Amino acid sequence: MKPKILIARAIFPDVIARLANHFEVESNQEDRIFSGAELIEKMRDKEGLFSTMSERVSADVVNVSPKLKAVCNMAVGYNNIDLEAVTRAGIMATNTPDVLNETTADFAWALLMATARRVTESEHWLRAGKWNKWRYDGFLGADLHGSTLGIIGMGRIGQAIARRSTGFDMRVLYHNRSRLSEQLESAANHAEYVDKETLLRMADHLILALPYSPQVHHTIGAAELALMKPGATLVNIARGGIVDDAALIAALRDHRIASAGLDVFENEPALNPDFLTLSNVVLTPHIASASEPTRRAMADCAADNLIAAFSGQRPPDLLNPDVKPKA
Ligand code: GLV
Repeated sequence: MKPKILIARAIFPDVIARLANHFEVESNQEDRIFSGAELIEKMRDKEGLFSTMSERVSADVVNVSPKLKAVCNMAVGYNNIDLEAVTRAGIMATNTPDVLNETTADFAWALLMATARRVTESEHWLRAGKWNKWRYDGFLGADLHGSTLGIIGMGRIGQAIARRSTGFDMRVLYHNRSRLSEQLESAANHAEYVDKETLLRMADHLILALPYSPQVHHTIGAAELALMKPGATLVNIARGGIVDDAALIAALRDHRIASAGLDVFENEPALNPDFLTLSNVVLTPHIASASEPTRRAMADCAADNLIAAFSGQRPPDLLNPDVKPKA
């Protein structure tokens, strides 16, 4: 008998077909978001879970799923998974690293440019029929070329963002848990490692690219925003919760920083409605990795991990290498 798996959200039909060669698949092509209780109910008899960041894989899920062997997340971030509980229960957990680095870095730049040069704000104004003359001071923004880019979180995505700055002749400052090797710094447009306060004070543009964990909750709050330049832009392509959204809203409203470009939010998709009242913020619905090839690669990667976990192999993107997998 094939092992039973749940694919928790809608996904490319060919990926379901491939998984169906190996598993008895319960899918969710109507794309309902399961409540915690529904997920628990569905997981009782499952041996595998193809999850996304919208499923909270908690100790409660683990406790009701005695047969569960593998949770394969279609995301690089995995803060939706209680990794400790999963590991304790002998369940393998995987994510989808690398395949989305370049696409996500592209999008960080799209948001940065749209934010600094007021692309969406001016477009909304044009669409509202307000464009009746040119003005010398219409929608003045900030330059990217020749400016200082600060990056917090210099993993593979942060480095891909930094590499793109060479064409803009930018200075790159970064802050990270640990300093990169000289070789990696030099490949990342000669990025300079600085403490967080120096970075906040010196950056003209700040991009957040760090993974979420409780330790980095509200890495950017009122105190940090107060250190930033008044003309600075802030871009978050990382995770909701890294920025204190209420503090950011206050800073944008009072023009303590110029603008923000946000792809992720606290409590998404129910973002703080006050964002919608501000013109100096560009808002996108968590789509940084959403190019067709990359979303396909992520889905394939999660499926590869799931198939490997049941073929007696070590899944390529195992997050808990110390796990003692269930027989
Ligand atoms: C998207 O946010 C991801 O973690 O892949």
